[in-house]
Amino acid sequence: MIFETHAHYDDDAFDEDRDQLLRSMYEHGIHRIINVGASLRGVADTVKLMEIYPFVYGAIGVHPDEVGDLTEEKMKWLRDLCDKEKTVAVGEIGLDYYWNKENHEVQKKWFVRQMDLAKETDLPIIVHSRDAAKDTLDIMKGERADHISGVIHCYSYSVEHAREYMNMGYYLGIGGVVTFQNAKRLKEVVEYAPLDYLLLETDAPYLTPQPYRGKRNCSLYLTYVAEEIARIKKVSYEDVVNITRENAEKLFKIKE
Ligand code: NI
Repeated sequence: MIFETHAHYDDDAFDEDRDQLLRSMYEHGIHRIINVGASLRGVADTVKLMEIYPFVYGAIGVHPDEVGDLTEEKMKWLRDLCDKEKTVAVGEIGLDYYWNKENHEVQKKWFVRQMDLAKETDLPIIVHSRDAAKDTLDIMKGERADHISGVIHCYSYSVEHAREYMNMGYYLGIGGVVTFQNAKRLKEVVEYAPLDYLLLETDAPYLTPQPYRGKRNCSLYLTYVAEEIARIKKVSYEDVVNITRENAEKLFKIKE
């Protein structure tokens, strides 16, 4: 059984068939899903999804592209949602210097503030970091993120940075990108990192693996990600699925 650690089923891309798709997950071997909040609306919808579906858990947080909407009042709202039984993480939070929708200082401020939320509530963090390798690592070190725990979602940096994150007790989220032929650096990271530090994720509806690249992504395609990790690491497909599931259960404190 596969544990999907990062999806956005609140996205409009699923409006046509969300319920049918989610209800088909179990029979296809996907037994737990973390729906990750990215915007304020996404957080509200994540809470709805985790209330409807027993196998859906929630991450509460605001993506760096959306932090312009955050206020102290909204932070209180997020804080309260962190106490819900099926909230398993604060996320996705971090820095995005690729889209640069919010200025860097604003992004940093809310990244730190949302990390504080995780410290306060003893939840792990789901970190989004794009084209911001150095600042992300510097901030996390400065904030003693090694005292929290979490995952670097859609890991896209070097082997050296991967080592630093693993030394801080962080997992690396691996998704569809690993199946792309030109993803040489990510394949090296997967080869280098012990399986005990990897999590399976889609970021659905985005980042669809081969052979469906370009189409809408969903958790059913995680089999292609697991197969590619197995090939790179020269281990069995079952080992990839089982060990990444155990990693997720441990990180997000979900018992069988
Ligand atoms: Ni995401």
